[in-house]
Amino acid sequence: MERNQIQTYLNSNKDRFLNELLDLLKIPSISAKPEHKPDMQKTAEAVKQRLTEAGADNVEICQTKGYPVVYGEKIIDPAKPTVVVYGHYDVQPAEPLDLWDSPPFEPVIKKTDIHPEGAIFARGSCDDKGQMYMHVKAFETMMKTNTLPCNVKFMIEGEEEVGSPSLGPWIIENKEKLKGDIILISDTSIIANDIPSIDAGLRGLAYMEVEVTGPNRDLHSGVYGGAVANPINILCKMIASCHDENNHITIPAFYDKVQELSTEERAEMAKAPFNLDDFKKDLNIAEERGEKGYSTNERTGIRPTLDVNGIWGGYTGEGAKTVLPSKAFAKISMRLVPHQDSHEISELFKKHFESIAPKSVTVKVTAHHGGEPVVVPTTSKGFLAASKAMEETYGKKPVPTRSGGSIPIVALFKKELGMDSILFGFGLDSDALHSPNEHYGIFNYYKGIETIPLFYKYFTA
Ligand code: BES
Ligand code: MN
Ligand code: MN
Repeated sequence: MERNQIQTYLNSNKDRFLNELLDLLKIPSISAKPEHKPDMQKTAEAVKQRLTEAGADNVEICQTKGYPVVYGEKIIDPAKPTVVVYGHYDVQPAEPLDLWDSPPFEPVIKKTDIHPEGAIFARGSCDDKGQMYMHVKAFETMMKTNTLPCNVKFMIEGEEEVGSPSLGPWIIENKEKLKGDIILISDTSIIANDIPSIDAGLRGLAYMEVEVTGPNRDLHSGVYGGAVANPINILCKMIASCHDENNHITIPAFYDKVQELSTEERAEMAKAPFNLDDFKKDLNIAEERGEKGYSTNERTGIRPTLDVNGIWGGYTGEGAKTVLPSKAFAKISMRLVPHQDSHEISELFKKHFESIAPKSVTVKVTAHHGGEPVVVPTTSKGFLAASKAMEETYGKKPVPTRSGGSIPIVALFKKELGMDSILFGFGLDSDALHSPNEHYGIFNYYKGIETIPLFYKYFTA
């Protein structure tokens, strides 16, 4: 009955739901770039307006030290449970622009092999405007069909892609306002459009920057080359030494707190469908690579990593300039698993990197933002409600998975607000998040809007 009402409303508003999202995607809300400050404000105002139109009360743009959080709520009965929806309206920078087939902030719909019904190509379409907006439209649908079964609070932030520096302090100051029973987030992926899944964990993150200095100035690489340490050569060696021949990380004590999964847990994880050939084909790689002794899903889900995200120094312009550079730089991230601590790991990295540097150079190591790993109990009421909701709309029980990505604020929701989060993502890993040609399936968008109200229903029941 209820499901029919919801579907009827969704069907008769499909085009509008899509067009509203396309409008939101046209605003370049890139949190990492200060010149987009006006766009951030514009996006926050648009989200506020959409929440208000959908039927939320007390909708406000809450100032923080950084970009604002958009808050709104519908309290139908204080005795009923409260779902707190979290999402982010900021997006990653779109560079490199020349690799986009269409401009990142001019959304277009195109069919792909994986999305035969069409996908929206735009920065933020999947991560996270498209997935966040499903919640606004699901809420509208419940309001208009009189099927909202419990209270709801929205908290949509603008700094997730830069590590949520202001949201932590903001939630601590607003504990009373944010009181609720569960956090609901669509900012992760499912395995495939015919294989629904729910993440039961996220990795943490420690993000470092290193600067290696050799001689006090750039030198002629012929006159001095061979007699002076080249900081780029040295940095490459230092980075290479961070993995051994089995691709284990060599930083002392790095694995000390890593929780090893039991054979049973690993067997459970291995049930998640995974096709290595498709994986390789999608990425155009001849062979996968990772830590010895672990499967691909384990390598991304339950094992920590160390990866260079960027490395630079010396001459990178056109042609050849013979130079022995004074400095070399790298940005290095480590993904963390339960119970590793991002501050401890940053410290271990710093100590290690300083200790392996030869006397011929000096190194400076600084830490950027980080975040702690999380696990979501799969037997909790929230997880079971999410599972039932997906089972109903996909016709298949969702598979519990562990995601390799990070949403740093989730651990703080637990620590500061005492609430677990349900990672109710509907995107696909192949949707090119953070990459050129990011897209989000229209099927996924509507499926999310259809499934979310069922979460409310089962969570309240
Ligand atoms: N939505 C992603 C995280 C994600 C993507 C989780 C896919 C699971 C599957 C989020 O916006 C993100 O990109 N997080 C960053 C961390 C942040 C500190 C920049 C990440 O994981 O790199
Ligand atoms: Mn995201
Ligand atoms: Mn992201």
